[in-house]
Amino acid sequence: MKTRLLTANEIDTAAGILRSGGLVGIPTETVYGLGANGLDPAAVGRIFTAKGRPQDNPLILHIPDASWLDRYCRNIPPAACALAEAVWPGPLTMILQRRENVPNAVTCGLGTVGIRCPGHPLALAVIRAAGLPVAAPSGNLSGRPSPTCARHMLEDMDGRIDAILDGGSCGVGVESTIVDLTPPVPRLLRPGGLPLERLQAVLGEVAVDRAVTAQLGSGEKPRAPGMKYRHYAPKAPVVVVTGESLRTARYIRRNLGQRTGVICFDEYAPLFSGCTVEAIGPVSDKARQARRVFEALRAFDSTDVDAIYAQCPGSGGLGFAVANRLKKAAGFQVVDLGEAEE
Ligand code: TXA
Ligand code: MG
Repeated sequence: MKTRLLTANEIDTAAGILRSGGLVGIPTETVYGLGANGLDPAAVGRIFTAKGRPQDNPLILHIPDASWLDRYCRNIPPAACALAEAVWPGPLTMILQRRENVPNAVTCGLGTVGIRCPGHPLALAVIRAAGLPVAAPSGNLSGRPSPTCARHMLEDMDGRIDAILDGGSCGVGVESTIVDLTPPVPRLLRPGGLPLERLQAVLGEVAVDRAVTAQLGSGEKPRAPGMKYRHYAPKAPVVVVTGESLRTARYIRRNLGQRTGVICFDEYAPLFSGCTVEAIGPVSDKARQARRVFEALRAFDSTDVDAIYAQCPGSGGLGFAVANRLKKAAGFQVVDLGEAEE
């Protein structure tokens, strides 16, 4: 299969491919997604094949506006409507009870479904033109860092999918925040592009699932099935160093080996001249760190580094998502030197 690169004025071509059961890379504000007709089990099945995705890891449905919630979900709590009103279109996925018309291929047989209305004009235009809910996981090969530009998606998916719609670089850079609204107290399953503080402002109390901050034991079953897999991982092993940025930079410098790669804040890049360095933004600019983190993790795979150290932002705002992606890439190998500055 030849993978076509489509430009922003080829929305109808992308929509046509979706309607006929094909696979299209779609830019969203978070990361590129690998889209298919979410009502067509065969098309959804092709997503799993193209990504090499485990069969027990459900997909989320992308809708063009909140009025579609009722088509695919039932017993929708008032909190879901309040959230949709406050933050959609935007980087939030809600887990809700599903209706029977949502294929098992999407939910992997769960009684719930993840729904999101993406905040990217091209994504919304394609979904509207197709007239379908679009099932879309992140557009990487399973286990690799998520793609934040069309070129990264092509690296993983060339020859495996019909087309990629090129919408430039993603503005947020980490995937959507996932909140499960089916328990009495809403539960954060994945920190993401919508800060936890924003969720709390709308919902009040939000529980944070253990899988967000720690590696689950082999017998533990995560609520978001995807959280149990090693993710976002470059080929070289990653160690995350948490704490105040000057301390973590010094620690990493003391522990450098011959072929150590470093993910650091811009201010500290000069300490690591001579190493393969990915500076992900200034200490205080978490939005930039979020835009850069996957690109940085991906960059090491074309180098000869045999180990990677990463500085880690504090957990306020988007720092929660950036830290989570780094720690997951590290399989939760963390050197803890204390609290980071925010
Ligand atoms: O920003 C995003 O959310 C991107 C863009 C493309 O929209 N999509 C994305 O999809 O990150 P994916 O498949 O890479 O991650 C979705 C996560 C997985 O960890 C999956 O296990 C979880 O959502 N998930 C999906 N349906 C679920 C459900 N019914 N209950 C709990 N977790 C669910
Ligand atoms: Mg993913």
